[in-house]
Amino acid sequence: MIHSCPTIRIVDAGLSQLRHDTPGYPPSHHPGGSTFVAALDTVDGDMGPFMTHSADHPSATDQTTGEGSDLEFRPPTMEEGAAMWRIARDSGTLDLNTSYAYLILARDFAATSRVAVADGDTVGFALGYRRPTAPERLFIWQIAVDESQRGRRIAARLLDAVVADLPEVTTLETTITEDNAASQRLFASFAERHGANHSVGPLLTEAHFPDPGHGAELLHEISELRSGT
Ligand SMILES: CC(C)(COP(=O)(O)OP(=O)(O)OC[C@H]1O[C@@H](n2cnc3c(N)ncnc32)[C@H](O)[C@@H]1OP(=O)(O)O)[C@@H](O)C(=O)NCCC(=O)NCCS
Repeated sequence: MIHSCPTIRIVDAGLSQLRHDTPGYPPSHHPGGSTFVAALDTVDGDMGPFMTHSADHPSATDQTTGEGSDLEFRPPTMEEGAAMWRIARDSGTLDLNTSYAYLILARDFAATSRVAVADGDTVGFALGYRRPTAPERLFIWQIAVDESQRGRRIAARLLDAVVADLPEVTTLETTITEDNAASQRLFASFAERHGANHSVGPLLTEAHFPDPGHGAELLHEISELRSGT
């Protein structure tokens, strides 16, 4: 199982320590080039049933206008899985999965994911999938924006872009830890902007995780997305 957002484990000079997600946490500086322990999980055996979307039929490119018009929002290419992996790694907060996972997810979930591209550089991404047993529900597995680009509403626009291209989706889901204020605000703001219901409840407790360092993940459900249209 691939996890989404918040806690990662860091190894510094051979000593393990846990660091929890801190919204607005400054860029990661690890003395001596300390190493992120990546790839807490692999996709083996888990993603097969989710492979219901293909990069063969991506949504149309969404070229923004007005403020931030240098930004483009569109489905990822498989190759952009590499940039997603780097952004996740450099976020300092996300559970970093294998580069393999990002490449394959970028290929197989392009239609339900978006990247933000600024001057040719991939600077943000939202990786999502429609739940196989509830395809009207879009689960946002990870969303991240390069630290240099934060505060430009890129994450908000990534969510808006992917939902706009999926008219059959009426509920957006994600999980967030209680200490991730940035992510909480991002999704609460999305719900307000879309006039949707927003409920929060338990999903994954710390006890569910076989490895240490994971905080409890609360399920955020943003429903009735298109009730006003
Ligand atoms: C969370 C994250 C994706 C937000 O990206 P962003 O492009 O800077 O966010 P936006 O500019 O689109 O802001 C969207 C909303 O979130 C709020 N927000 C963004 N960062 C915030 C922070 N650090 N603290 C509180 N609120 C924050 C904004 O004020 C805005 O709210 P508003 O609509 O009420 O004005 C980014 O901080 C990030 O990549 N964090 C590390 C990865 C992570 O934690 N991802 C979420 C879990 S998967």
